[in-house]
Amino acid sequence: MTGTVSAGTELLRLADLPDGATREFILGSGDWPPSGFVVRLGDEIHAWFNRCPHALRPLNAMPDRFLTPGGGLIQCAAHGAQFEKATGLCIAGPCLDESLRRIAVRVVNGAILLDEDLDLAKLERWPR
Ligand code: FES
Repeated sequence: MTGTVSAGTELLRLADLPDGATREFILGSGDWPPSGFVVRLGDEIHAWFNRCPHALRPLNAMPDRFLTPGGGLIQCAAHGAQFEKATGLCIAGPCLDESLRRIAVRVVNGAILLDEDLDLAKLERWPR
């Protein structure tokens, strides 16, 4: 995986992300492109690279499904690690005290935009 996804790239429309919801977005191209996901907490939008720090798998097994059944935490579908939605900190499970990799975003005119250039090769190496 090579290339850069530029700051300012539109990831999602805010209108497609109800309060409390999560949505996945794709970064790059190819057969198995990396992805991230956003969590909306009222006016706050948090975006995370979709890779669990435990065994480096995507967190979701189903499209756009990243939360515990009650919606209070992010949960990895592989082995059940649970993360705070606003900080990405693992508070239960096999990667306790490790964190998800935040992706900086901003909202402009109803669009959720990347707020940083993402080097996909560097992102692929995370967390190493
Ligand atoms: S890969 Fe996420 S808990 Fe194991």
